[in-house]
Order: sequence, then structure tokens, then C-alpha cells
Amino acid sequence: MVVRELTGGIYFGKPRGFSMNENGEEIGFNTEVYAAYEIDRIDRIVFESARKRRQKLCSVDKANVLEASMLWRKRIIAIASEYPDVELSHMYVDNASMQLVSNPKQFDTIVTNNIFGDILSDEASMITGSIGMLPSASLGELGPGLFEPIHGSAPDIAGEDKANPLATVLSAAMLLKYGLGEEKAAQRIETAVLYTLNRGFRTGGIHSAGNKLVGCKGEGRRSIEVHRS
Ligand SMILES: NC(=O)c1ccc[n+]([C@@H]2O[C@H](COP(=O)([O-])OP(=O)(O)OC[C@H]3O[C@@H](n4cnc5c(N)ncnc54)[C@H](O)[C@@H]3O)[C@@H](O)[C@H]2O)c1
Repeated sequence: MVVRELTGGIYFGKPRGFSMNENGEEIGFNTEVYAAYEIDRIDRIVFESARKRRQKLCSVDKANVLEASMLWRKRIIAIASEYPDVELSHMYVDNASMQLVSNPKQFDTIVTNNIFGDILSDEASMITGSIGMLPSASLGELGPGLFEPIHGSAPDIAGEDKANPLATVLSAAMLLKYGLGEEKAAQRIETAVLYTLNRGFRTGGIHSAGNKLVGCKGEGRRSIEVHRS
């Protein structure tokens, strides 16, 4: 699970804009900035989430170069003392992007800033074989949050019964688990998805020889059948 800070960092930091440099050349600039409270807020959320998983948390930063990342690392180390049951590690983002491809199973929960999370979450989606596999949650401090697949409306395949519905189905499981605290119900949905895939029912994006090609409706129908059985 990749937990991405979503309301701060370089996408919102000020100053930002266009200007001229000392050579009279046009420049564009942005600011990567984090306040301690923003880091502490996401850290507490992610430690709670990691507790519900394998109690293994990797914080991804660029603390060898960026001051905002140095503060990020300092704050998460401080917050970690409140969660002694969760194992915390740190990784630079360039290494993390490589490790995600070479050995994805070493990770359980990743927490990172807005821009690194933007990129790493898309990279992580492809490890699962398709963008249609990954659910997401946008969590505020007060909950219950917004739960949706990481992909968009897939306009290029609209009406063709080709879209993989599982990211949407798994978003409902995330809602139950992280929004409503209904872990058992969430698990039933996740298990149904897993069994459906194990039985070989796959939409085009994740289909390979030996599996059964189904459309969006077929994949959904099979998942419900498994869920009920
Ligand atoms: N989280 C979000 O709300 C979100 C994310 C991305 C895009 N969008 C919006 O969605 C619209 C389309 O954007 P886009 O085309 O850049 O991104 P997209 O995610 O909709 O599609 C990107 C590619 O992935 C494929 N794809 C997406 N979902 C799939 C699925 N379930 N199964 C199989 N293939 C799938 C599409 O066919 C397309 O080739 C835009 O309006 C964009 O703003 C929203």
C-alpha cells in the first residue's frame, strides 16, 4: 500500500510561478515545503494503517538532498516512538523506484510525499499487471475518506465491456477496512477477488494463455458468485 501525502509539497508550495533569471531568461519555479504538522498528520494515519497490515512501514524521501525530506525523516522517526510494534525503514526515492520493480514483495506499506507518491503509486500499479487492479483512498483526519480506483474513466474503451472492474470492487473493500473499520467484510471482498483471479477469470489487461477471457460484466459477475459461495 502506497500512502501519499496529498495536500502539500511541491504541488501547492509557495512561492511558485514564472520569472526572469539574472541572464534575462524566463524561468519557472516551484517550492517543495512541508510543515511538521503536515508530516505528523500523515505519519499517524500511515502507522495506524500499517498496524492493520504486516506492521512494516517504509518511508520514501530524498533526505540526502532536500531539506523538506530531512524534516520528513526527522518527524517520522519521532512519531515512530508512538508505534513500537511497527517496523520503520527509510529509502531514497530513486532506490525505491528501482526496488519496487526488482523486489516488490519486500514492501508492505510505503509512505511518501505528494510528488514521489504520485509517481511511485502509478509504478506500483503496473506491478499488479494492470491499472485496473488498484484501489485507492483519500483519507482526511476525520474520515471516512474517499475511496475509488486509481484509474480514471477509461474513455478510450467506454462501452466496450473491456474495463477491469476489480479496482472498483477493491475500493469498496478499502472503504470497509479503512473507512468503517469492518475488516471481516473487507476480507470477504478481497478473498472473492483473489479466488476469481485464481480461477482464471481475467479481463483483457491481465489475461494470458491458460486463463479465461471475460469482459467487465463477466469479471464482476464471477466475483459476486464467489463472494456468495
Ligand atoms: N482518480 C481519478 O479521479 C482519475 C485518475 C486518472 C484520470 N482521471 C480522469 O479520467 C479521465 C480519463 O483519463 P486518462 O485516459 O488519462 O486515464 P485513465 O486512467 O482513465 O486511462 C488510462 C489508460 O488506462 C486504461 N484503463 C483505465 N482504467 C482501466 C480499467 N479499469 N481496465 C482496463 N484499462 C483501464 C484506459 O483504457 C487508458 O488506456 C480524465 O477525465 C481524467 O481526468 C481521474
